[in-house]
Amino acid sequence: MLDEQRQGEATVIAPTSILMNGKKVYVESYGCQMNFSDSEIVASIMGEAGYETTATPEEADVVLINTCSIRDNAEQRVRNRLTQFQKEKKANPDKVIGILGCMAERLKSQLLEEEKLVDLVAGPDAYRELPELVQEVESGQKAVNVLLSREETYAEIKPVRLDSNGISAFISIMRGCDNMCSFCVVPFTRGRERSRDPKSIVEEATDLYNRGYREVTLLGQNVDSYRWNISKKGEVSDTNEETVNFAQLLEKVALVHPDLRIRFSTSHPKDMTDEVLHTMAKYENICEYIHLPVQSGNSDVLKRMNRGYTREWYFDRIDAIRRIMPDCGISTDIIAGFCGESEAEHQDTLSLMQAVRYDFAYMFYYSKRPKTLAERKYEDDVPLEEKKRRLNEIIQLQMEHSLESNKRSVGKTFKVLIEGPSKRSNEQYCGRNTQNVMCVFPKTEHGVGSYVNVKVTDCTSATLIGEIVGEA
Ligand code: 5AD
Ligand code: SF4
Repeated sequence: MLDEQRQGEATVIAPTSILMNGKKVYVESYGCQMNFSDSEIVASIMGEAGYETTATPEEADVVLINTCSIRDNAEQRVRNRLTQFQKEKKANPDKVIGILGCMAERLKSQLLEEEKLVDLVAGPDAYRELPELVQEVESGQKAVNVLLSREETYAEIKPVRLDSNGISAFISIMRGCDNMCSFCVVPFTRGRERSRDPKSIVEEATDLYNRGYREVTLLGQNVDSYRWNISKKGEVSDTNEETVNFAQLLEKVALVHPDLRIRFSTSHPKDMTDEVLHTMAKYENICEYIHLPVQSGNSDVLKRMNRGYTREWYFDRIDAIRRIMPDCGISTDIIAGFCGESEAEHQDTLSLMQAVRYDFAYMFYYSKRPKTLAERKYEDDVPLEEKKRRLNEIIQLQMEHSLESNKRSVGKTFKVLIEGPSKRSNEQYCGRNTQNVMCVFPKTEHGVGSYVNVKVTDCTSATLIGEIVGEA
């Protein structure tokens, strides 16, 4: 899931080391929530090494840009930004400019050696080494580490989150991805899938709760394949230790405190079990909201995408959600114009949307990515204009469905966690209901971080508008 409003955001934290080195680091992030969560780990590692974080790139000694490769336009955006930083470097040649994340992994030393846009390249599994890499650059060398790891989960590194609202935080529970969807670069940029020790996850959630946080989102490329102490084939690694699957992990985190809300992302239709759904239904503090990317409504296209499920299987998963949690919010990702997509196949996506009626969707047209299965195997043969037309139809339909979904909520009362002042007005609060819909309502004496009942009186396609009718 990409949060459009956060693209290009700077990560700033309080000084973490007693031994500051007098230098400043600027960290700017693009891409998915996992990347923003990684930037908190990067800030923490640099902080421990004595750097102070800054929100002003001009005054930084080290500029780090954490990047995304998911679509070509994500990379273009970063290239423009790097060109800007290069101009600044002309005036200040000692400044170290580094690229992190998926683009660093994908392009390896190309941006350093051929294009000369950066001094340092670090892939997603190399962040522990950042302080040394910066030193290498300072001593006049080139610094590159794009090794991917089978173990690295940064389990014991405490991400520091001072720029957040202090109420909701992300916890990364696994890294990498083994699915090999044919359109996707992630397996190449983030490496093999590995899960993080459940104890460190529960500790982090407990610590966040004690520091006043009231909502955590568990992050992974495919959270349903989370597993600890047990292999994919079901072999237990250490018979003296418990095994933990995603449903069991959810339960452990839910038990941290009833007032700590749990969300998670992303679920995969091929792996989402009824056990997870029953656990969600059992605990009031696990939010009734599932992001279940479908990508296409046609089984042949899904096959070419190597998604591991059919249209019918997907409907079965939607039925299971609605059976076990009738009020569950459901969102999705959709790709228009994948290789070989016919008009009839596109119509299948629209008809699937009509049948499911998503509350929300992230929608894209297909962008060919180097090295992926699709790039090697299929022709990117849907003309751009056609891709755009199909995407537009998908967006139009989704807007109708989102508005419909919000209209159904008018007159109802929801338990909402107050996240802070609304974007538009200081007189208004904002916060989400369990289904992840943003609600806006006039401020009362209730503080940020408390739960209130909000009665919805009006809506747009993106927001519910209401008023507090009591404490929840
Ligand atoms: N082109 C377009 N969209 C893509 N996504 C992933 N790879 C591509 C691509 N090559 C979308 C998928 C995924 C979301 C994070 O981005 O819908 O779920
Ligand atoms: Fe996240 Fe994928 Fe972009 Fe990497 S390429 S930042 S994993 S969305």
